[in-house]
Amino acid sequence: MSKTLAAITGVHGYVPDYIMTNAELETMVETTDEWITSRTGIKERRVLKGEGLAASDMGKEMVQGLLEKTGTAPEEVELLICATITGDRVFPDTANTILDKVNAKNAFGYDINAACSGFLYALTTGAKFIESGTYKKVVIVGLDVMSSILDYTDRSTCIIFGDGGGAVLLEPNEDGFGIVDSVLKADGNGRQYLNMEAGGSLKPTSAETVANGEHFIHQEGRTVFKYAVRGMSETIKDVLDRNNMDKGDISWLIPHQANIRIIQSVANALDFPMEKVIVNIEKYGNTTAGTLPLCLWDFEDQFKKGDNIMLTAFGGGFTWGSTYLKWAY
Ligand code: UT7
Repeated sequence: MSKTLAAITGVHGYVPDYIMTNAELETMVETTDEWITSRTGIKERRVLKGEGLAASDMGKEMVQGLLEKTGTAPEEVELLICATITGDRVFPDTANTILDKVNAKNAFGYDINAACSGFLYALTTGAKFIESGTYKKVVIVGLDVMSSILDYTDRSTCIIFGDGGGAVLLEPNEDGFGIVDSVLKADGNGRQYLNMEAGGSLKPTSAETVANGEHFIHQEGRTVFKYAVRGMSETIKDVLDRNNMDKGDISWLIPHQANIRIIQSVANALDFPMEKVIVNIEKYGNTTAGTLPLCLWDFEDQFKKGDNIMLTAFGGGFTWGSTYLKWAY
């Protein structure tokens, strides 16, 4: 019998109904559909609208759908980890609010704040509870409501991001299917290039921070772009080397959806064919912790049992990494 792995046994995504097109953004900031499409690959993104709706409401949709699809009763869930930077509140965490909203009374939960790499951090962490034999049903959620921290007068950020995400169920597998290996990295010095300055203990929210727009996301796009290409390419190579694999062994490469040019640059750096690279950025934009589970959900029908899937991400922190898994169904 091989070592126990944590296998993804189901995935369910959710995006809000409201579609914000590039044409709508043209009416809000000085930009064009042509610029956004050619520089980022994005045609439209979703925006959560509605009084009182927040991250946990999207999370509830994802987790309820996941539990129904996998035939799991809410009370069977033992742990839920939610990767997000746009939780309902600074505290308490959104994981526990989601558990409450889906009526999962026997679980505990916590949030992970690793921006666009959050889903990989959460997936890797959750897998350890399964591998160690501690738990048998762990839910990993990756979602963001980026519209809640976007400045819709800043054309360098508001055109990229959107709202959405997904959830996966992790269960033990003794037959070699599941999460095999991850290389995760961080460099806190990157905080200067991608952040939200106010609202924490460094700069508690005040009239001045609001007037300065410090409650919005700030990004130095060109710098982040370069680090992102390098970080994702290097960690994919690290994972391949550690597992005595070659790029030809990868069935699907699923990169964080931040910019089609970043995705193409990573594929180029690895000399990897774009036909095997999963892309849905045109529909949803960059949903931060939501992009990877949204890709798994969108392309679930194309995956076959035993496919070697490489997930890779880069984001605020800086945080980055790659995870290799064998698809289990
Ligand atoms: O997901 C977490 C990590 N984030 C990322 O990975 C994002 C990484 N960065 C990027 O994707 C890109 O840097 C952006 C999409 C953010 C920006 O694209 P870029 O090709 O790097 O543009 P740039 O910032 O170098 O700006 C080029 C020009 C500038 O004009 P000048 O100075 O050359 O006259 C900008 O003012 O494009 C201008 N520009 C725009 N023009 C029309 C910037 N945003 C826009 C816009 N529409 N929305």
